[in-house]
Amino acid sequence: MSLGLLEQALASRYGLMREPGLARRLRRRVEAYAASHAATVEVITQRALRDDQVLAALTCGLMVGETYFLRHHEQLELVAGLVRSAILDTLRPFVWSAGCATGEEPYSLAILLERALGQTLAGQATIVGTDLDGDAVVAAEAATYGSWSFRRAPVWLSAYFEPLGDQQQLTSRIRGRVRFERGNVLDTAEAWPKGCLDAVLFRNVAIYLSEEATARFHAEVARVLDPSGVLVQSPSDPPPPRNLFTPSRVVGAFHPRSKRPTRPKARPAGAPTKAVMPPTPTPPTPTPQSAPSCDLDGRADDERVWLARGQRKLAAGDSVGAIADLRSAVFLAPDNATCRLWFGIAQLESSESTVRGRGRVMLGRLKESLALRPGDAHVEDGDASVAEMMDLIDHLLEVLA
Ligand SMILES: C[S@@+](CC[C@H](N)C(=O)[O-])C[C@H]1O[C@@H](n2cnc3c(N)ncnc32)[C@H](O)[C@@H]1O
Repeated sequence: MSLGLLEQALASRYGLMREPGLARRLRRRVEAYAASHAATVEVITQRALRDDQVLAALTCGLMVGETYFLRHHEQLELVAGLVRSAILDTLRPFVWSAGCATGEEPYSLAILLERALGQTLAGQATIVGTDLDGDAVVAAEAATYGSWSFRRAPVWLSAYFEPLGDQQQLTSRIRGRVRFERGNVLDTAEAWPKGCLDAVLFRNVAIYLSEEATARFHAEVARVLDPSGVLVQSPSDPPPPRNLFTPSRVVGAFHPRSKRPTRPKARPAGAPTKAVMPPTPTPPTPTPQSAPSCDLDGRADDERVWLARGQRKLAAGDSVGAIADLRSAVFLAPDNATCRLWFGIAQLESSESTVRGRGRVMLGRLKESLALRPGDAHVEDGDASVAEMMDLIDHLLEVLA
């Protein structure tokens, strides 16, 4: 079967990174889709190459839609604070959750906003979630979740849910505050009008995208964000370019370096909302956990210097240089989980399968050693907890290995 052509189509159409894990899942997905449509794999492949709708349907379940309520809550609180200030300034802020999977992320934000502002004012914000995976979007609209989605949830969150069988359904009031659309983040980003968004959540999506696609996305987000807005990524996502964004005080959050004047502080009563939903497009490596803020010319016996150097090289696509620097970091601090994580990640990025194999072993061993620590402890030189780093390792092994 011409699976290679399909992979190529997914890369050029949606920016998906070509890697062996994706190829394996794609094969399984095409086989299942062919069986359910009483067609051969060859016929489905040819159809998908001709018809965007079929290609889009093949992306269902292709990626790991791993998410949960209040994930990296400090980032969501930053966005909620910004949105709250805008609403109190009588503005109508607009937030886009790009790659929202089954909706836990944008719903978490809607819940935090209601807690901060009350029901009436919270409704002034528009929150839109989009995802390539149509099944995930349907699940997001249904807003019915099992216990895995609440794995780090505080007790108070249960007030927003009602039991539905053995699951929990989000109250209709919050459901009504988030709109979902199926779509490719690259197309959607291009479709937003300039400066119309107050916050973009782009967390744990870049891991599926090629470097070029991520760069394209960052450039579009710099255009569509209000100068006072924020781009939020997972601490393990590649950072946006420094000429376009500047880091905020919260790890993984960035403000645009815009020379445009900021928007007027107040909106006349009754004025239309600033942003409109872009037309639905036809069919439709992680930064530093917490990049140590250290001088790259710092001391050569400080593992954080090597860690930062390796992370930069990795973000620039130089996996060979990154491996050498991160090896030095691990040599200097063999018990430092962040150095070991990054060394493993750099190895998984290698074009040589033996090096990738070593990366898998390195990450597997790191996970075993993390399992001996309390899940809520923080790892050294990083903002993640032990449990979060273990989740990240699972994710990396699934996606990159
Ligand atoms: C790991 S989930 C992240 C969910 C949520 N943002 C979070 O961090 O909890 C990644 C999601 O990105 C979506 N995705 C990947 N590539 C995409 C693309 N080109 N356009 C839209 N969504 C995409 C996948 O379908 C998946 O649901």
